[in-house]
Amino acid sequence: MARSIGYGIIGCGMMGQEHIRNINLLGDAHVAAIYEPDAGMMAKALALAPLAKPAASIAELLARPDIDCLLIASPNFLHVEHLEQIAATRPLPVIVEKPLFTDLGDADKLAGIAGRLPLVWVAMEYRYMPPVAALIADAESATGGIRMLTIREHRFPFLSKVGDWNRFNRNTGGTLVEKCCHFFDLMRLILQSNPVRVMASAGQAVNHLDERYDGETPDIWDHGYVLVDFASGARAMLELCMFAEGSRYQEEISAVGANGKIECRVPGPTRFWPAHLGAPPTPQVIVSPRNPPGPRALDIPVEQALLAAGDHNGSTFFQHRKFVDAVRANGAAEVSLADGWWAVAMGKAAQVSAQEGRVITLDDGPRLR
Ligand SMILES: NC(=O)c1ccc[n+]([C@@H]2O[C@H](COP(=O)([O-])OP(=O)(O)OC[C@H]3O[C@@H](n4cnc5c(N)ncnc54)[C@H](O)[C@@H]3O)[C@@H](O)[C@H]2O)c1
Repeated sequence: MARSIGYGIIGCGMMGQEHIRNINLLGDAHVAAIYEPDAGMMAKALALAPLAKPAASIAELLARPDIDCLLIASPNFLHVEHLEQIAATRPLPVIVEKPLFTDLGDADKLAGIAGRLPLVWVAMEYRYMPPVAALIADAESATGGIRMLTIREHRFPFLSKVGDWNRFNRNTGGTLVEKCCHFFDLMRLILQSNPVRVMASAGQAVNHLDERYDGETPDIWDHGYVLVDFASGARAMLELCMFAEGSRYQEEISAVGANGKIECRVPGPTRFWPAHLGAPPTPQVIVSPRNPPGPRALDIPVEQALLAAGDHNGSTFFQHRKFVDAVRANGAAEVSLADGWWAVAMGKAAQVSAQEGRVITLDDGPRLR
């Protein structure tokens, strides 16, 4: 039996605790140490991780001999600072929550970090949701080459966070970065091409307008459309609505090409499904050829234990499985710094496009590996 891989965690609120529940299911890894400044969150995290020791600072965490890798699940605007501290003091493999950064001015810092850490994996959980993975695997054969890709997310408003950091664009990078970097990452992955033009219309219509934090009203957007042209000639569209939690499915993706269409439907977090409505919806993939026509729907059930361990259809488990395998093998990240950079750059372009009412051209690839 291989030695258990010990994680050190930096920031352990809602998502950090989802990570712990999934690391606990791996069987060959454990959480060895946690740095979390909020006492309530630290208590909850330690209760989930029986082998973990609390650290009073990041420096103390990084000095622990029993950690083999690190997870950063702190608020968005701290990710780059934490990566820099790790690179400077204890360059271990890292999995860092999305978005990789919030300020395009951080690109130079990230380029500096790139060569100094053995492995940096950007946590893009949506890639690993079973129905999304099934769509990705079958998209080419079902479509004959995707020409149009649409991603629709209709979901619940932003949840409450420690210190309410997610209520303001300055902390999150803006909704099209914070939330939608997942979808821009999926677009690049599914289309196997990079974006060249972004156009968006988005804003804040319904949510958080009656909230005040130190007298300030939240400025985060809750809906929008984003159109993206890709170098391959494919077109993609994102539709986001964060006041639509009454929906049966949360994410719906469709890809269409000359031969046909493939779609997937992804339910929201199981814990939010109203009990009186019966069993929560099962994820689905639907393939609709043109000739002969005849849509075929396939259920893609996710194991109950994985659904119970988080809000992301089991994806957090599958991502850690691959990350731990990469740590053991000194392997490469499946979601690289460059992927993380592109996802934020596309989100930023969409934010600026919607704010300024203009098309943004993206002609400069990331200088990261
Ligand atoms: N991939 C996904 O699907 C997904 C889902 C939710 C959140 N996230 C990401 O996970 C990260 C955490 O989000 P969350 O929802 O858990 O928020 P949260 O507020 O519940 O947790 C963040 C934690 O970081 C702690 N923190 C604050 N300052 C810190 C510091 N200086 N050093 C270390 N920790 C610090 C807070 O006390 C808090 O417990 C964010 O980047 C968010 O975008 C990703």
